[in-house]
This record gives sequence, structure tokens and C-alpha cells, in this order.
Amino acid sequence: MKFGYFDDQNREYVIQTPQTPFPWINYLGNRDFFGLISNTAGGYNFYKDARLRRITRFRYNNIPVDNGGRYYYVKDGDTVWNPGFKPCKTGPDDYECRHGLGYTRITSAKNGVSASLLAFVPLDYNGEVNQLTLKNNTAETKQIQLFSLREWCLWDASDDMLNFQRNFSTGQVEVKDSVIYHKTEYRERRNHYAFFSVNAKIDGFDSQLQDFLGMYNGFDAPQAVLSGSATGSVGDGWQPCASHQINVTLLPDEEKSFIFILGYVEVPEADKWESPHVINKKPALQMIDQFSTDGQVERAMASLASYWERLLRLYRVEIDDEKTARMVNIWNPYQCMVTFNMSRSASYFESGVGRGLGFRDSSQDLLGFVHQIPERARERILDIASTQFRDGGCYHQYQPLTKKGNNDIGGGFNDDPLWLIAGTAAYIKETGDFSILDEQTPYDSNPDDTGTLLEHLTASFNHVVENKGPHGLPLIGRADWNDCLNLNCHSTEPGQSFQTYGTADGRVAESVLIAGMFVAIGPELVELYKRKGLDSKAHEAQQEIEKMRQTVLTHGYDGEWFLRAYDAFGEKIGSKDCEEGKIFIESQGYCVMAGIGVEDGKALKALNSVRDILECDHGIVIQQPAYQTYHSNLGECSSYPPGYKENAGIFCHNNPWIMIAETVLGRGDRAFDLYRKICPAFREEISDLHRTEPYVYSQMIAGKDAGRMGEAKNSWLTGTAAWNFVAISQAILGIKPQYDGLLVDPCIPSVWKEYTVTRVFRGAIYEIHVTNPGNVQKGVRSVTVDGKPLEGNVLPVLGEGAKHIVEVVMG
Ligand code: BGC
Ligand code: NOJ
Repeated sequence: MKFGYFDDQNREYVIQTPQTPFPWINYLGNRDFFGLISNTAGGYNFYKDARLRRITRFRYNNIPVDNGGRYYYVKDGDTVWNPGFKPCKTGPDDYECRHGLGYTRITSAKNGVSASLLAFVPLDYNGEVNQLTLKNNTAETKQIQLFSLREWCLWDASDDMLNFQRNFSTGQVEVKDSVIYHKTEYRERRNHYAFFSVNAKIDGFDSQLQDFLGMYNGFDAPQAVLSGSATGSVGDGWQPCASHQINVTLLPDEEKSFIFILGYVEVPEADKWESPHVINKKPALQMIDQFSTDGQVERAMASLASYWERLLRLYRVEIDDEKTARMVNIWNPYQCMVTFNMSRSASYFESGVGRGLGFRDSSQDLLGFVHQIPERARERILDIASTQFRDGGCYHQYQPLTKKGNNDIGGGFNDDPLWLIAGTAAYIKETGDFSILDEQTPYDSNPDDTGTLLEHLTASFNHVVENKGPHGLPLIGRADWNDCLNLNCHSTEPGQSFQTYGTADGRVAESVLIAGMFVAIGPELVELYKRKGLDSKAHEAQQEIEKMRQTVLTHGYDGEWFLRAYDAFGEKIGSKDCEEGKIFIESQGYCVMAGIGVEDGKALKALNSVRDILECDHGIVIQQPAYQTYHSNLGECSSYPPGYKENAGIFCHNNPWIMIAETVLGRGDRAFDLYRKICPAFREEISDLHRTEPYVYSQMIAGKDAGRMGEAKNSWLTGTAAWNFVAISQAILGIKPQYDGLLVDPCIPSVWKEYTVTRVFRGAIYEIHVTNPGNVQKGVRSVTVDGKPLEGNVLPVLGEGAKHIVEVVMG
């Protein structure tokens, strides 16, 4: 069952009912100022950091779900309704929500009045613009009242939820003309405030939530709205909010639009005050000025559209498969931008309070984003690197606002260092910018202790080399990519954090996944050394890689598949000898991607085992059989009920590792089959089961052991976005950036006859037409560039501007 449809022409998903199986959301904002918006106008805003600069409040895990947002109330006689359906839930006569790229438009109608709410964050603007248009579709004059509402968060979203003994007394606002300013803590140490404005004369306001709602009412029945009159309350402690009342007369067929702005302003210390106790409003008024007319809104929307048009033109496929095309050309790159911006910080499953940016998460997000805005990728790589320690280890997470490592979680996740090499290699392959390797970058955010990025990468590599266990495999530390395989934790008391309890320095527990990563990613560093003329370093590193390859074959293979790990007692994990958790997906994916066991059939056997044991209709589960009981030697993965999350859920992040591994073996039919299984556009028809948005990937789909098999959770912020983009764009469609050119090496379903990828690479446009006359899955017979035959299948760097026609014949 579907709840909407894709409008590919407009690059929108159109939701046709407010009552989707779960809030279906979108992201607003491009760089610094962000908003989350659901299909019922719920959500919140923040500046740079969802924890430290939260602007509006959201009430998590509430009932009904999705409480707090950009609420507008229309009072038309005795009927009160919201253009976004919530919070009053007055049945609309008409409803549609269009989530587009960086904007959302919800239109609805009630009793002859229609409303259209457009929400977006203009480019280079620290605010969210809401254009609300009301139209009278009747033959009578309508006298209605419009009330807006935002609830302020007291900046630190964590403290905001916990510390009421203070917070109920600190809130402060100022109201002037049609603008409500939120200035809590501005008089002490903050130099920033927020405002909520409207470009119309107002007939009343509230800035104290309890007065607007009435002490015992909720968002769905505000006293001020029901009575038709704002109270003029001034937020002074308690819960400051911002609400305008506007009395609107609409003649028959008349339409009126109102522009509301939620803005964020930073003021230099010396200019904070206009007069004693009165904040300097100049910067806010300038922002308000930028969007006081519909024409200004229209122009900003046009700029946003061309911004996305430009980004999406960088990789486009034309293919006789509508669903693949819409994912590759629209939604997957869009999600990659969002994951790049947010990492795992703020979604309807991530509170924005805990995670900050993850070291491994952000490094992997780069893989799907780097072609879009390489300059931002460059900056991010250097930021990530600066949270690394001298010994190559690194903070697992850091705060985007301060860019400092997060001490609560610390380090010791031993896969982290290698992802930095992977992210950097992807950046250099995309841009050819080797100069990034020479950038001086701090260790542990200490500007007095720096090394070049290349030295950081060396530290990453050596961290693995210097931390091996009894079998010569990499020590796992707190966990590897699977955050819930906590082999040194041994927790037995409730409440102990699986992520930080126990030691990070166990010298026995080893990870075959990290070994596979080392063999797959290590060669990138070897190549970088060579290009820097560091031949002996390159040689040494290559020897380490070969040694690891042998070690995996000797101690990391279990007959039919790769082992997953050895626990802190030296016992095998992910082995046929285990009762549960006999086989895991991650090591199969990475070891085959590394090419281990390809020559002697071990890789083939491993992928066949994945197919036979782990795969189901909804994708590949992370391991089998699921753990039925808690195992303290394994940690959090065994704490989840069978079929969910890291205990045999379908973790969409590493399904693409298997897709890519299948292309290493040349099995394009398999690769694409796996692509389809977890791809949201292909799952749209079962939206009632899947439940999360059909236009973006979710982290997890419940696996075959789960009571709710096929149901997805944790949509949007997952490395799944980047990895699926890599799988489809590079491994399957086969267009892979290399240090010296663009490799064309498709691995596709044998039934595909042809497709065209238009790829912008280092400034040149390559229009690559692939044909498959012999119905093969892999192999390139001939390539021509602008009519001239090419030796091999690496397209040369052809430089800025021009378009080049490439003909590729498979066979
Ligand atoms: C989640 C993981 C996450 C870990 C640490 C687990 O419950 O399943 O995805 O990385 O918590 O926050
Ligand atoms: C989510 C975390 O953000 C990511 O870093 C981790 O790899 C996966 N969960 C799997 O555990």
C-alpha cells in the first residue's frame, strides 16, 4: 500500500494523507541553519549543532508522535484547523504534502479556505522562511483568524530537557512590532538570539506558552486560539514561545500571503545592546528585510532549485528503469547531502542530543558526497583528522560546533582510523587534489601539536599494524563498525554503557572485519606514498597488507565463509562451530571487496553462504542464527531481541558491501537483485509494512527472526545512503573515479541492454553510453572517446568545460 507517489519531474515525493505510518520528514538547510519538517509540519530548528544551538523545542518520544513544530492555526468561526493537519487534526477537505529538495510544501483546505505552507531555508541564510498563503474559495467574505506558534528551546537541547529548576526561571523574550525575540541567557554569556517575525501587522501576540495554551491544554486546543484572542503574555521564565495573532479578511476568491521567518543572529560582544537591556535588533531586521515580499521568496526558491539542479547534474543516469533512475538522480544524492550535513545527529530517531558527528560515520558519508561539493569534503576531512590522536586512534565522535572530540564516549573503536584513509582517497580520486595530504592538522584538536594529513593517515595505518592480537588479526577495541559487537565489555549490570564499559585495550579480541578493511583500504595509502615518492614506505605498507591477507586466509576463514572475530577468550565468533551467530555479513563483504579468496574460490563460497543463510525477501540480515539470549562476551548485539538491529536485523549499511563484493566476482544479476531489495523506491508499494519514508534509506529493516519482519526504522541518517550510492553508481553502473581518470567497469544484470551515465569529473562532462549486446554481466570489449578508440577502460582527465561522448561496448 502506498501513501503518495514520486513526482520525478519536480523532484518531489507527494504524500496524500497526513496519516502516514510514521511521520515522513524532510530536511531544510544547506550549511549552518537547519530544520527538520514532517508531513504534518512537526520538527525543529538548530544552528550548526543540534545539541548546543537548538532553536526550537521538540518533545521526543511523545504521544501522539511528533510534538512541536511550525504550527499555524486557522480559526474560521468555530472551526480551528492547521494547514499541516497537526496539532488539531481537524479533518481537512483536502491535503497534500510535497517534500522536495530542501523545501516542503503542505497544502490543505477546510470549509472553503485553502492554505499553502511553504517551508525552506534559503541558501546562505540563517533562518527558515515560511510562506503561508490563505485563499477564500467561497462566494462569501471570510473573517478568519490566523495564529502562529513556535516554542523556544533554551539553546542546549540536553540541558533543556533536564534542568527545570533553573530553566523555568531563565527564559526571556522581547516583543517589538511583529517580531518576537528570544533572548534567554543573552544578558550573560551568550552573544546570540533568535527571532520569529511576520511581514504583516499583528493583532496580538503571546510569548509564554502556558498563557497561549492555558495551563491544562495541549497544542491541539490552545486557549488563545479557541477564545479568538491572544493574551499578550511576555515570556518570563517557564516556557517562552512566539505566537502572532492576525485577523484576516478574505473577499471571495481573495488570496493573502504571510511570510514568517524564524531566524538566528550572532552579535559581536561590543554591539550586543541597542540600549540598556534592549537587544540590538539591527541584524534581525536586516534578515527580515531579505524576505518581506513574495517575489523575494520566489527568487530564493529559484536559487535553491538551481543549486540542486547543478549538484544533481554531476551524476545522472538515463536508464529504462524508473525506480533506479529516481534513486540515482534525485533521492540518493539528496540523502547523501543530508547525511553529510547531519552525520547521525538529528532525525526522528536520533535526538540530536547525544551523537554529534561520528568519526567513522562522517568518513563514510564522504564516499557518497565527495563529488557534490569537494571543497566541503576537504574541510570535513581535515576536521575529522584533527580529532585523531598521535597514535592513530581517534575520538569516536565530535561536536560540530566546537569540532572537539567527545570525551564521554572517547576512543578505542579500532576500525575508525582506517575510514579516514578511505574518505581521503575518495576525495583525491574525485579532485586530483593531492595537496590535501600536506595540510598541517592538529592531533586531539591541539593547534600546537600537528602533523600533515599524510602523517595522520600513516598513523591510522600503523594503528592497525601495532595493535594485533594472538592470531595476527587487528584488535577490535571497544567495537569495530558493528558498534554492538563489544568484545571487551563484559557488562553484567543494567545501565552500563556497552560503548564505554570495560576496556578498550583488550589484547585478545580480534576483528576479521578490520582485517578485511585493512586489505581493502590499505592499498590506497600505498598508492599515495608512491605518488609522494615514498617508495620504501609504500613497499613496507604493501608487505603489511600481504601479511594481513595471509592471516585472514589462515585464521579468518571457516570453511564456507569468513569468520567475524575472536572474542576476549580467543573463541571464534561467526563460525560454524558457534551455536548462534554462525555467520556475519560484514567480514564477507569487506574481505571479498578486498579481493581475499577470489582466486581460490573462498570468496565465491562466502558470498553463496550469504545468499543461502543470510538473505531474505527484505535484504540480507546481519547474522544468523539470531542470539536468543544475552552473551556478555559479545555485548550489545545480543541485547537486542532477535531480528532487530545488530541482532540479525537487516542493517542496510552493509548490504551494499555485499553488492559491491558481488561485482568483484562479476555477478551483476546478484548485485542488482540485492540493490532492489533494500532500495526505498522499490519498496514503496509496501509502505504500510516498511513504514518509514519511501524516498530515503533507513538504517535497519527488521529481519526474518523479528515479529515485525520487513518494517524499517531509523530513516535518513545512516551510512546506507553513501554506500548504496557507491554500489549503484560505481560498482553496478560502473563509473569509478581513479587517481588518473574515470574507470568504466560496469557489472550489471545480464538483461540490461543499455544505459547512459553523464558524469562531471574534474570539470569535464563525460556522456557515457554503455551497450550490452551480448547480455553479459561484466566486461568491457571496447571504448571510444569522441569517436577515437581508447586503450583500456580508464577515461583520461580531459579538463574543464567540454562534453565528451564515450561509447562503451560490454562483452
Ligand atoms: C545502535 C547502534 C549504535 C549504538 C551506539 C546501538 O543501539 O544499534 O546503531 O551505533 O547503539 O549508540
Ligand atoms: C550506527 C553507528 O552510527 C555506526 O557508526 C555503526 O557502525 C552502526 N550503527 C552499526 O553498529
